[in-house]
Amino acid sequence: MKYRSLGSSEATISEIGFGAWGIGGKQWRGGQDDQSLKALRRSFELGVNLVDTALAYGDGHSEQLVGQAVKSSFHKVHIATKIPPMNRIWPAKADTSIAEVFPYDYIIRSTEESLRNLGMEQIYLQQFHVWTDAWTKTEEWRRAIEDLRQSGKVRYFGISISEHEPDSALEAIKTGLVNAVQVIYNIFDQSAATNLFPLCQQMKVGVLARVPLDEGGLTGSITEQTVFEPGEFREAYFRGDRKRQVVEHVAALQRDLAGQPGTMAEIALRFCLSHKAVSTVIPGMRRVETVESSCRVPNAGPLDAETLAILKKHAWKRNFYQADLRQTA
Ligand SMILES: NC(=O)c1ccc[n+]([C@@H]2O[C@H](COP(=O)([O-])OP(=O)(O)OC[C@H]3O[C@@H](n4cnc5c(N)ncnc54)[C@H](OP(=O)(O)O)[C@@H]3O)[C@@H](O)[C@H]2O)c1
Repeated sequence: MKYRSLGSSEATISEIGFGAWGIGGKQWRGGQDDQSLKALRRSFELGVNLVDTALAYGDGHSEQLVGQAVKSSFHKVHIATKIPPMNRIWPAKADTSIAEVFPYDYIIRSTEESLRNLGMEQIYLQQFHVWTDAWTKTEEWRRAIEDLRQSGKVRYFGISISEHEPDSALEAIKTGLVNAVQVIYNIFDQSAATNLFPLCQQMKVGVLARVPLDEGGLTGSITEQTVFEPGEFREAYFRGDRKRQVVEHVAALQRDLAGQPGTMAEIALRFCLSHKAVSTVIPGMRRVETVESSCRVPNAGPLDAETLAILKKHAWKRNFYQADLRQTA
């Protein structure tokens, strides 16, 4: 494993972080708790020291599994979790009042619930699970995060930025109150590199690169025949003729990447780590095999400039999250 700094925090965090949405089990089907625990523990053995979870992932189930696994880790694991929007609406809408989404008492209550699920005294990185800069100038969220820091319940705060809208938290970052952001960054959606990453570098704000494998699209394992379990979030994400579109884009990628060592997923993770603004990449993992594959990536180092130039051409503008059946992400 290799390690990077998380913005201006004192932490050095693993280049591969553990994305813990899938193990929550509500929106991702087919996982099993014993496998998830094995995957978490194996990741810690391989040097992973950051887990990204959320109160909304399986209504606290992901946090509970993470808390259980962390107890047996021989090294410190930094936990990033999230406060779900009180109105349970993803993504945030600029014309919704923050009073409906993150009022003071709710921020405190939600954090305390996460601490109970995790069985911990402190959350290393507490993140707002939705955000719009229309809320940045309001006061209550600032007071809540100050009080949570003062009480020691939270070490740092962050924002999980809306899908395909990397510029929707720039004003919040400029306040200096945010220590990290997490954002979609992958071969298909490279938009975070335009404005967000330079600002994060300038402000010394850490970056968690999320959905690095396009919910599985960039693993190369999705075919036109792939069937997801009824009710699984990915049934909606890859609905209609989207699987065919993914297969076409992946085939073009594979042609351009011929000769590049590693699996498609490993190259996709290396792509994320090739940007210096990225502190950690957080693939969603539920199995020991995927953990071992992902943890091989840091050793391979960044992709060369020629490959990155080729990958730039594979950026693909679309929003598969729109009008889906998803409740939480
Ligand atoms: N709004 C938000 O804040 C938000 C939204 C989405 C995601 N996230 C965070 O970002 C994390 C990552 O996103 P995601 O989980 O949605 O999607 P993702 O990481 O793009 O894709 C997850 C899929 O990739 C597979 N995979 C992982 N590593 C692999 C490897 N090395 N080789 C082959 N396949 C591999 C996983 O397989 P297995 O499951 O079989 O192991 C899973 O099917 C989440 O877990 C969550 O922590 C946050």
